[in-house]
Amino acid sequence: MNNRENIDFFSEINRLKKEKNAIILAHYYQTGDIQDIADFVGDSLGLSQKAASNDADIIVFAGVKFMAETAKILSPGKKVLLPDMNAGCSLADSCRAKDFKKFLRDNTGRTVVTYVNTTAEIKALSDIICTSSNAVHIVNSLPHEEKIIFAPDRNLGNYVINKTGRDIILWNGTCHVHEEFSLEAILKMKADNKDAKIIVHPECELPVRMVADYIGSTTGLLKFTERDDADTYIVATEPGIIHQMIKKNPGKKFLPVPPVDSTCGCSECNFMKLITMEKIYHCLKNEKPEINVSRKIMEEARKPIIRMMEISDKLGL
Ligand code: 13P
Ligand code: SF4
Repeated sequence: MNNRENIDFFSEINRLKKEKNAIILAHYYQTGDIQDIADFVGDSLGLSQKAASNDADIIVFAGVKFMAETAKILSPGKKVLLPDMNAGCSLADSCRAKDFKKFLRDNTGRTVVTYVNTTAEIKALSDIICTSSNAVHIVNSLPHEEKIIFAPDRNLGNYVINKTGRDIILWNGTCHVHEEFSLEAILKMKADNKDAKIIVHPECELPVRMVADYIGSTTGLLKFTERDDADTYIVATEPGIIHQMIKKNPGKKFLPVPPVDSTCGCSECNFMKLITMEKIYHCLKNEKPEINVSRKIMEEARKPIIRMMEISDKLGL
């Protein structure tokens, strides 16, 4: 039995899932208990693919709002629930539609490649969407003469420029978790664990990316730890992923990188961590809060998302 209401959330959520033909999709940055009760745990691309193809009537999204919106756009006939509507994203917040429209007017003639970490309104203004696991592939799929705008993450954008050599203008946005990792702490951890490998998400700043043994999306990082033979990894992304890393690699050690400055000394995403088992239970029971996107935005945002999904499918991503 669990906490104040004396409800066993694990059993109750499982009961409600069956009763309502619901599934829980969880991002790797969720807490371990939520990952364990989810029907699917993945990165942004995997979650979008799962949202687009499943037999459920209800999707409970254990993640942040832009992810739940993307699920709704891909499965408009389903009820999509987000257990806490305040689960936003500092990166998505850094790109407001009014400012982005002006940016597009000031830089016409470029293909607009937008990271999935944006509102539906920004997606509706884009030519094609990408995630951290397919950004390089998506840009490489565009004809070489096409000039590009990449938004909103300047670090992922910079990583894509380095990998593709393309003519890309960047929107100046960042994720407050990934831009804060302490290079000093990483170097100290490496000095203390000489055989450890440094694994880094591409949303991190260039100095952190420069010391990486491997750079990849959360799924990419997880798969790397499974095929690589090191015993210890210094992990520069939100530490929720370490739950899966330990499950998939019993016996290996995973050291989360702290931020430069934070009161808790941890690098958790405060938005992701707004979702709790208790909120999932109430949300599934009451079937709210529900994600709704206007029909017009939904239609416009769907096209660039589908374009990304088709390219990813073709490339087997
Ligand atoms: P991925 O899920 O593509 O690894 O991105 C991480 C992230 O920041 C999600 O908010
Ligand atoms: Fe947004 Fe960063 Fe949190 Fe991901 S980790 S949801 S990019 S604030």
